[in-house]
Parts: sequence; C-alpha cells; structure tokens
Amino acid sequence: MTKTITVLGSTNIDKVIKVPRFAKSGETLKTSEHVVEAMGGKGLNQAVAAARSGAKTIILTKVGKEFSIEKNMNVKNLVTSNVIRSQNEQTGQAYITVSEETGDNIIHIYGGANADITVEDVLNNQEVIKKSDFIIAQLEIPINVVTEAFKIAKANGVNTILNPAPMPEIGGLPDELLKNTDTITPNEHETFLLTGINADSDKSLIENAKYYFKYGIKEVIITLGSRGSFYMNQDGNYGIVPIINSKVVDTTAAGDTFIGAMSTRLNSNMSNLKDAMEYATAASSITVSRNGAQPSIPSESEVLVVLGRNMEVFNH
Ligand code: RIB
Ligand code: NA
Repeated sequence: MTKTITVLGSTNIDKVIKVPRFAKSGETLKTSEHVVEAMGGKGLNQAVAAARSGAKTIILTKVGKEFSIEKNMNVKNLVTSNVIRSQNEQTGQAYITVSEETGDNIIHIYGGANADITVEDVLNNQEVIKKSDFIIAQLEIPINVVTEAFKIAKANGVNTILNPAPMPEIGGLPDELLKNTDTITPNEHETFLLTGINADSDKSLIENAKYYFKYGIKEVIITLGSRGSFYMNQDGNYGIVPIINSKVVDTTAAGDTFIGAMSTRLNSNMSNLKDAMEYATAASSITVSRNGAQPSIPSESEVLVVLGRNMEVFNH
C-alpha cells in the first residue's frame, strides 16, 4: 500500500546566482553567471522529494494570487488540492547565492504568503492531515501553525516529523510543539540553538538526543553535513550513516531531499530508521550534484541505482 504524506510548509520562488566565492560584508564582487529562477521552499522541496520517491504527497502551503500551480507544482504523485491562496501577499521568495568553489549556499528569504498561513487554514484542511501516515513540517511558516497541525496529527495517530529549519535565533521552540513531535531532524547548528549542546562528538550527539527524549520525541536525526547523519531512538540504538560521495555542484535542497525521501521508506513504528536514512542519503547525494532546488531532486529509480552501487559503504 502506498503511503500518504502531508507536507505542511513553505513555497518559494528561488532566485539563484552562482559566484566564484562569497563576497565579504561591504564587498562588491562581479559574477559572470545569469540569475536562474527555479521553484523551492523547504516545504515544497520536501514534498517533491517524497512524491518523486513514490508516496502520495499532499502539499499544504500558501502562495500568492499570481502563482501557477499547473506550471510550478506539476509533479507526479503530488496532490495540490490543498494549496491555499493568500489575499494579501505574493508567493515567498528566496535569494540564493551558491559558491562555485564549494557548492555551499547563503539564503535570504522573504516570507510573503508563507508568513500569512494561519491556524484557521490548518483547521480548514485538517481532514487531509488526519488521513495521512505522516505529516512533515519545517519553520519557514509561523510556528503556532505547525503546532496546531501536529496536535491534530497526534490526536489522530499520525506520525509527526519536525525539521526545525530555520531555527529562531533566540527563544527556542514551544514545549507544546516538541511534545507533539515524534521525529525531529535538525542539523548541527539548529540542534545547538535548541539544546544549547554542541554536536561535535558521539558523546555530545547522544546528549542532544536525550534532550529531545525528555519531550517524548521518539527518534532524533541530526544531519552533520559531510560527516553524514546521526540517529538515535528512545531504545538507545544510535549510529552515524556516512554520506555517499558525489560531485558537489549545488547543495541547495539536499537536507530537504533527505527528509522527504526518508519519510517514504519509514515503517509506521520507525523500526527501519537506518535503512530509510541510507535511502535518503543516496537521494541527497544526487541533489547536491545538480543545480537548483526542485529541479535537482531525484526520482525513486535514480535513487535506487545510487543506493545499489553504494550498499557496501553502509555495510562497513
Ligand atoms: O532548503 C532549501 C530551500 O530553502 C530553498 O529552496 C529556499 O527556497 C529556502 O527555502
Ligand atoms: Na541542488
């Protein structure tokens, strides 16, 4: 039976420029590349990753009046009937600078319609949440909206996955949100902002995980960039899944691909977390090798080829 996944989150129009290196503050740096526009937003990226990996995926997001769903969300398995239109704001925008040197990026976002999604919007769409196997959310939309959706999900036995990105610089997250989260997936920087504990050794990663367990969170995944991804569950099983090396062109949407792809493999009791993370690792190794966000997210068949070739990496 195919899985149903709801992704609640942002849609952005990404405006991407490639630079030989990042400019310093106050510096003007010339580039020879064109500005490229592509679809992105952490919510939509994660939804596209899940859909391309074969899950029936519902995108619950808010866009401007001018937005063309047909043109920008035309992805197999992606259900767009819960896309909401903002009366006041235009579609969110992301200004992305990608370093040709490293493939790393710097992103500044304008919230637009993403900032305009409300608790009422979630209540109006709660039936799809209730019918899902998983709901995934990030923090490019107001946090109270995510909390409301997760409360509905938990009350109806739906697994909740929180990607706390971007993390607010101060103030942490409300207890009510953490208490309604089953699986949390921060990166190193985000987990530090949440727990106040560095994530730079096995010991400190375990300390980070234990912080979340206090809230009833069942699985913790901390992505560590080129060091791979750490996982730990409440039973005390933990480990690190290494990355698969590929030619790094543009890392945009790598983290989003990881989460969306992983969710399509997870059992409802998460007993196969490590296998799901290996699949997700293969998926994001493809995303980093291509330009852009949405255009770089691979299909299931592409992921399976890479995964097959790299099973040895994971068995060592
Ligand atoms: O995670 C990558 C995404 O972050 C980009 O697509 C951009 O839109 C920002 O939301
Ligand atoms: Na990419």
